[in-house]
Amino acid sequence: WAAPNQVNISADLNVQGPTINKDIYGQFAEHLGRGIYEGLWVGKESSIPNTKGFRNDVVNALKAIQVPLVRWPGGCFADEYHWRDGIGDSKKRPIKVNTHWGGVEEDNAVGTHEFFDLVELLGADAYINGNLGSGSVQEMAEWMEYMTSDKRSSIANERRKNGREEPWDIAYFGIGNESWGCGGHMTPDYYTDLYRQYATFLKTPPGKKPKLVGSGGHTEDTSWTDILSTNIKRDLDGISYHFYTLPNSNWQNKGHATEFDYIDWFKTLERTMRIDTYLKENIAKLERNDPQGKIDLYVDEWGTWYDPEEGREPGFLYQQNTLRDAIVAAVNFNIFHQYAERVTMTNIAQMVNVLQAMILTDKEEMVLTPTYHAYGLYKVFQDATSIPFNINSDKYSHENQSLPAITASIAKGKDGRVYIALVNLDPKNAGKVTLNLKGTDASRLSGQVLTSSYITDKNTFKDKDMVKPHPFNANINDVSIPPKSIVVAAIL
Ligand code: AHR
Repeated sequence: WAAPNQVNISADLNVQGPTINKDIYGQFAEHLGRGIYEGLWVGKESSIPNTKGFRNDVVNALKAIQVPLVRWPGGCFADEYHWRDGIGDSKKRPIKVNTHWGGVEEDNAVGTHEFFDLVELLGADAYINGNLGSGSVQEMAEWMEYMTSDKRSSIANERRKNGREEPWDIAYFGIGNESWGCGGHMTPDYYTDLYRQYATFLKTPPGKKPKLVGSGGHTEDTSWTDILSTNIKRDLDGISYHFYTLPNSNWQNKGHATEFDYIDWFKTLERTMRIDTYLKENIAKLERNDPQGKIDLYVDEWGTWYDPEEGREPGFLYQQNTLRDAIVAAVNFNIFHQYAERVTMTNIAQMVNVLQAMILTDKEEMVLTPTYHAYGLYKVFQDATSIPFNINSDKYSHENQSLPAITASIAKGKDGRVYIALVNLDPKNAGKVTLNLKGTDASRLSGQVLTSSYITDKNTFKDKDMVKPHPFNANINDVSIPPKSIVVAAIL
């Protein structure tokens, strides 16, 4: 191989940037395929060890990476979900058809109470996505009342009768999802009027109001961010934005999850890094329309999306996950950190068994994906204070396109330590990192590295630990990182 990629990073560790909101590490759990049912929920009667119906192995693994936030029940599913179907005696709940995802029967075993059980088990906050597309203002308003009211109203009493005395806390509430598409094929102007109407009637006790999320645009489109932030003058805390990484940038031929070559590797990383420009463009609209910074940008769906796995129901969006996915995740974390002032919440799609999952399950078995380990490494960045830095990296190129070979983050963690993350996108060449750090007499880096022998390496039910973190230690004057790797280390 050629000489290692050189990267120079300089920073004054006494300078503070914005906080990296822990909710940047949020997760999405939709009623889709085997995500909720089987992946998380097995039911209280299952022989798979569970607490309140949620499998213990999966919950414990998710707790270990400190999932801060879970978005539920969709996605496209949210705009067909009627919350009353999911409360009361589970045996009497109606059976619906999940028209978006495989046309399967949805027996509503997981509803509002069960979702809050899940987030309580995880120690996470709740992000509920309401139904604007096929619901009504009254239905959405009553769901909010059911969840948050501390009064003796009949709706709040219904919650008590169903087993929950205290109102729940909701961190975020989405008013519709992808309203440009599965959420109703609306124009941003039409949606804006509906948003204002729906938001008006979402009443909560004082101090209990969730952050309200407007359904925004995706990919290169900035019109939703622009029109919503111009025309919604109250009750809008953030605008959602979705971006998926398809290696071929083509919905008919997205690319294979596990069989790929160096060119596909490059194309995947090139596609994922486009989010940098797209975020910048959306943030520019917000800066212009909302200079006081009241409206955030929430990337509440992102991640890799490959062709369906052979032999599986295509509507279940099940895909394997390789070292490439972990690198995609870490590259995105580094980008989100750069925009931490406005990008304060994101949700990877999705938590278990769907798209770029943390965990795959097969009956009582569970396997942690490389993406899971990327989240594990980066958990020190949750609520850390970012430290601005300059970076000058050699390029990683293919034909006439090039990417930075190495991207990074630096932040002061809640434990008072300064952490650096380094991602080497180049699958063939190591990285030689020169650090010019002011405000520290640190002498070494100590942390973990995630890499593997081959770009396609993955964890399977037969070989669960092929891709897993290993200790990383280096003298601060002599830092080298392997090809295709993620390093997160404390500067000591
Ligand atoms: O994450 C899968 C789907 O992707 C979601 O339901 C939808 O919002 C998006 O199109």
